[in-house]
Amino acid sequence: MAKLWAGRTAGDTSKLADDFNASISFDSRMYRQDIAGSMAHAAMLGARGIIPQEEAQRVMDGLQDILGELESGKLAIDPDCEDIHMFMEQVLTQRIGDAGKRLHTARSRNDQVALDLRLYMRDEIDEIVGKAGRLIDAVIEKAQAYKAAIMPGYTHLQRAQPVTLGQHLMAYVMMLLRDIDRLRDARVRVNLSPIGCCALAGTTYATDRAFEAERLGFDGICLNSMDGVSDRDFCLETLSDLSILMMHLSRFAEEIILWSSWEFKFIELSDAFTTGSSIMPQKKNPDMAELVRGKTGRVYGDLMGLLTAMKGLPLAYNKDMQEDKEPVFDACDTVKMCLEVFAGMISTMAVNTANMRRAAQAGFINATDLADYLVRKGLPFREAYRISGRIVAECIATGRVLETLPLDAYRKHSPLFDEDVYQAVDLDVCVSKRISAGGTCVAEVEKQIAYVKSLPLCGKKQEEAE
Ligand code: ARG
Repeated sequence: MAKLWAGRTAGDTSKLADDFNASISFDSRMYRQDIAGSMAHAAMLGARGIIPQEEAQRVMDGLQDILGELESGKLAIDPDCEDIHMFMEQVLTQRIGDAGKRLHTARSRNDQVALDLRLYMRDEIDEIVGKAGRLIDAVIEKAQAYKAAIMPGYTHLQRAQPVTLGQHLMAYVMMLLRDIDRLRDARVRVNLSPIGCCALAGTTYATDRAFEAERLGFDGICLNSMDGVSDRDFCLETLSDLSILMMHLSRFAEEIILWSSWEFKFIELSDAFTTGSSIMPQKKNPDMAELVRGKTGRVYGDLMGLLTAMKGLPLAYNKDMQEDKEPVFDACDTVKMCLEVFAGMISTMAVNTANMRRAAQAGFINATDLADYLVRKGLPFREAYRISGRIVAECIATGRVLETLPLDAYRKHSPLFDEDVYQAVDLDVCVSKRISAGGTCVAEVEKQIAYVKSLPLCGKKQEEAE
């Protein structure tokens, strides 16, 4: 088949080179964006009199038909075309003749592909934000239900201080909120129009880039034509944000895996989101959480791959940049799937509050509160800390816990101890006293939940607004 770019070259490229060069197997998924961009371009060419208005209309009608036929399955993408842009031009020209050939006036595939990708990513970001919002909804629901359910809070994976499952879950909500914020911020820079930058230097035609940008819902145009066609930082920035989001999900996933183990038994995942073992009948494996953890590496890989592909490229467009799309598509697909699976896994998990409380009871998780008790009785914190440490050591040596250590044993360490020490080391009291802003007490967790619910980003709210 004659190449659309045949002219300078006369000989046929080898089949091997054609296959190597082609991107249609993956860029065909941008067909809607490609058509939208071409429609706006045709409209602009017509409005500015660069091509006859009547031909512009025929182009737009032709593209509209192609879109309809692609959506209905009547028209199939031809895998022998080099890329989606060539395919569109070929089909259009077959259908409407010379008018189709005029569409590429004042345009290049370089600005066209940058445009398609920006349009694509804009939608992906919106979808990902929506899915992250729905995950937040699912997590908040559990946080609300378990806002008073006491569990050990850990540092170094050692029992540290009592917290509630509500507080613990809300920590992940805060991370997801920032993930959403970052993506929305990246969208601001994604949403600038490169169309009209042409091959690299702009064009001699009196085009109207603002017209095209506005028609396509962009907030503005890329201000330098060479930058507009050759930069991919909008992809890299989004991939970075997605990597951070996945890093958060991987930590959450890791805790789900730990909590559902026989050693912890804090939660039980629903059958719908676990798998069995082919040989060990007792197993219920947290595969979904493990896969989210594993796929995090994949998204980091997408980021690193594109960063590396872009490194050191001279201006402006280089074919290396065709390598931008697969990592972007892969990362977006992966993140969307992970967010959805995660929301389902969280909504359906059962919580074993008795086991969480039991784990919080043994482990001297209330030792800080014991020290605070002495501070309230007048001791400087350092001294109180030392006395409490000695009491803990004694308890460990004699197999006792702070809750039941006899008062005379306490008094041997300090005369300041009284009956009210038992109140001070009671787990519920420990939690209820963490009243500082953002702290673990139920009222503070409720404040966090109320704050997040008031934001216009949780799945339900967003859908209502849409
Ligand atoms: N398929 C190409 C890509 O994805 C489109 C741009 C081609 N431009 C060029 N000058 N060869 O980057």
